[in-house]
Amino acid sequence: MEEQSAAEVQQIKAAIAQILVQFEPDRSHLIPILQRVQEAFGYLPKLAISEIGAYLEMTDVQIYGVASFYNHFRYIPLGKHPIQMCMGTACHMVGGGLVLEALERALDVEVGGITEDKQFSLDRVACIGCCGLAPVMVIGEKIFPKMTSTKVDEVLVNLKMEEAEAAKAEADN
Ligand code: FES
Repeated sequence: MEEQSAAEVQQIKAAIAQILVQFEPDRSHLIPILQRVQEAFGYLPKLAISEIGAYLEMTDVQIYGVASFYNHFRYIPLGKHPIQMCMGTACHMVGGGLVLEALERALDVEVGGITEDKQFSLDRVACIGCCGLAPVMVIGEKIFPKMTSTKVDEVLVNLKMEEAEAAKAEADN
């Protein structure tokens, strides 16, 4: 459930207005507008959908209907550590699906979701252009090559340890 403060609502509205002003109010621009909004926020906030709808004279249902044809759109915010599992052909062929399942189990979250503590979100993506390293997982900006389902726990534990050390170092300063 999305909950935003009044200040956040204003921020989102201002950012969306800046995007919309770059497009004619024509429905043919819906997908590029949604892409720009997702680039700006990491997902499509509900408020953005209604602002876009008002601009293009479309209902929320119509917009979600069109967006649902494209599986790269997400409807909830990214986690602090956004995890993307490549499911392009090369990665899929060498076990990307098994890694994805292991991630879902380890995080107790489904693809497109976010963990309860908001630390991790999980998405599948199309080829990210380094097929020689398949199967490839990306967390934030960092690429994890030649992933296996058995490496998943190790990567997540290391990440949590790095977080804890960074928090401790900050508290010590
Ligand atoms: S298919 Fe995964 S990097 Fe190309």
